[in-house]
Amino acid sequence: MSTLAPFALVTGASAGLGHATARALLDRGWQVLGVSRRAAGIDHPLYADLRCDLSAVEALGDTFDVDWATGWALAARPRVGLVNNAAVLGPTGPFIDLDPVEMHRALALNVVAPAWLTARFVGWAGGGPLRVVNISSGAAHKPYAGWATYCASKGALHQLGGTFGNELEDMPALDGRDVCIVGFAPGVVDTDMQTQIRAHAPRELPMVQRFLDLKANGELLPPEMPAAAIADLLERDDLPPFHETRYPG
Ligand SMILES: NC(=O)c1ccc[n+]([C@@H]2O[C@H](COP(=O)([O-])OP(=O)(O)OC[C@H]3O[C@@H](n4cnc5c(N)ncnc54)[C@H](OP(=O)(O)O)[C@@H]3O)[C@@H](O)[C@H]2O)c1
Repeated sequence: MSTLAPFALVTGASAGLGHATARALLDRGWQVLGVSRRAAGIDHPLYADLRCDLSAVEALGDTFDVDWATGWALAARPRVGLVNNAAVLGPTGPFIDLDPVEMHRALALNVVAPAWLTARFVGWAGGGPLRVVNISSGAAHKPYAGWATYCASKGALHQLGGTFGNELEDMPALDGRDVCIVGFAPGVVDTDMQTQIRAHAPRELPMVQRFLDLKANGELLPPEMPAAAIADLLERDDLPPFHETRYPG
């Protein structure tokens, strides 16, 4: 039996929900590698930062290569988790003003990087349990005006998870693998992303008043609440290959 701690890679650990998730996992004895451009400022013997721009997808293969996976002994871990959390809103405002360069960068971060990391982790985790949590949103299923790129990115992430879940059931190459992928919508959480959302004018984001009201009424969730639910998901053994859920369940 492995004496190593379970290992999780949490993207976007420098702030918000990713930061709270990293802390929740550390409290439970996981070894955590946080990936973001800024340092997370977490001082814990089981924590390390990897400072990296995940939207630069052409460089991912150099950063996360076989030596990287071997160095962290992923295949020898009793359990491996991947929390695809880092995301940006991307360009907001009227669809007709869409900036293709900004859109491309947002889709790289919100869709391509999580897909690529998930694919690599399946090989690196060896035969042990691998749990992937993709941080989703109501925007995965609802086309909110002013949020074309963000909605498209969360919808794409949802479809990637579902597709991969079907492959886990139907593709012989993945037979017997203990892999589950979860799309988890955390609710409306009090983070920098919400601050950015509230800064929009109604002409850019017609539903901005809803978010202003939630903040004014003290109805935003502290990140620690959905973070604990993410940690629970990484520890579960009773999930189907693809599972979609939201906080509080
Ligand atoms: N807050 C909400 O109400 C809410 C609701 C539904 C879903 N979500 C989802 O929850 C997740 C976390 O959001 P949040 O609210 O915690 O956002 P946040 O406070 O803005 O944090 C975003 C995190 O992503 C990282 N990040 C951004 N660009 C990056 C890049 N190019 N490379 C690497 N890391 C990058 C940031 O770190 P650096 O800047 O240091 O790189 C930061 O750690 C996202 O997937 C979001 O879509 C949030």
